Amino acid sequence: MTTLMQWIHLMAAVTGIGGLAFLLLILMPSLRVLNPEQRSTLFQAVANRFRWASWSAIALLLASGIYNVRQYYWELAWGRSWSFLTFKIILSLVLFSIVLGLTIPWRVFDRLRARRQTWLIVALSMGVVVILISAYLRRG
Ligand code: HEM
Repeated sequence: MTTLMQWIHLMAAVTGIGGLAFLLLILMPSLRVLNPEQRSTLFQAVANRFRWASWSAIALLLASGIYNVRQYYWELAWGRSWSFLTFKIILSLVLFSIVLGLTIPWRVFDRLRARRQTWLIVALSMGVVVILISAYLRRG
């Protein structure tokens, strides 16, 4: 069970953060070869597919993350590990909110989506820090 949960957590992290990196580093710069109309058609199609992938990754990260907290941290006294873990969870929740804001097709999020490149940079940077903290928690 423990290995299964660890695998689920890692698979979801790789898929979610890898997806953000792909959008930002590969897809967005490549869109420049298309005209504005083709660009928005392609981006819309990609966004529709990214929606279910990112929402699944978020649900799996939360479920397996809570399991991991219960398994490895619950009995630990408050200390450095808990502080780093708490910081990681807060960063993850902010990151999840940005991704949900970019992918939920509600008009309230139109202003966020208008600056999607900026928000993708913020989200990916946070993901990189979350992975750094996770590596530290595991081996530190
Ligand atoms: C963007 C979101 C997240 C990413 C990219 C992420 C990534 C990772 C990675 C790469 C590991 C190391 C796994 C290993 O070495 O086997 C890990 C471990 C862990 N994650 Fe996450 N995680 C995320 C969100 C969460 C959330 C929301 C929680 C809690 C609710 C959580 C709790 C944990 C715990 C408790 C561990 C075990 C740490 C240890 O080995 O001491 N994670 N995570």
